[in-house]
Amino acid sequence: MSHPRVAHVGIAVTDLDAATEAYRALLGHPEHDRETVEEQGVEVVHFEAGDAMLELLQPTRPDSPVGRFLQKRGEGIHHVAVWVDDLRAELARLGALGVTLIDKVPRVGAGGHLVAFVHPRSTRGVLVELTEKRKDPAP
Ligand code: CO
Repeated sequence: MSHPRVAHVGIAVTDLDAATEAYRALLGHPEHDRETVEEQGVEVVHFEAGDAMLELLQPTRPDSPVGRFLQKRGEGIHHVAVWVDDLRAELARLGALGVTLIDKVPRVGAGGHLVAFVHPRSTRGVLVELTEKRKDPAP
C-alpha cells in the first residue's frame, strides 16, 4: 500500500455548537462543513487543519458509539483517521496479519467516504478509522 496519510482526528464533544465556536476561535477560520451521519448516531463538524481535518463529533443518541465513549471517557480524542487507497484490500491485508477489525467490510461514513474501524486493542488503545475517498463527487 502507499503510505497512509492522516485524514482527520475525531474529537468527541458534548456541545457541538460550543465546541465549534471554540475551534473557530482557536483556528481562526470557520468550519468546513456540518452534517449528521444518522447510521453512526453522530452530528459532525469538520475544520480544515493543514493537510488533515479536525472532526468534532456530538452523539445524536446516548446509545451510539460516540455517546457511549462520552459516558465512559468524557470529551477528548475519539479516533484517528487515515486515508487508504483501497479499503477492501487493506482490510484483507490487516485481517491476514491478525489485526482486530471492528468492521470487516467497509461502510459509508461522513462525506460519503468508505470507512472501517480498527479495534483499539490492536493499536495501543487508539481507535483507528481507515477511510477511502469516495470516487464520485459529493452531492
Ligand atoms: Co472520522
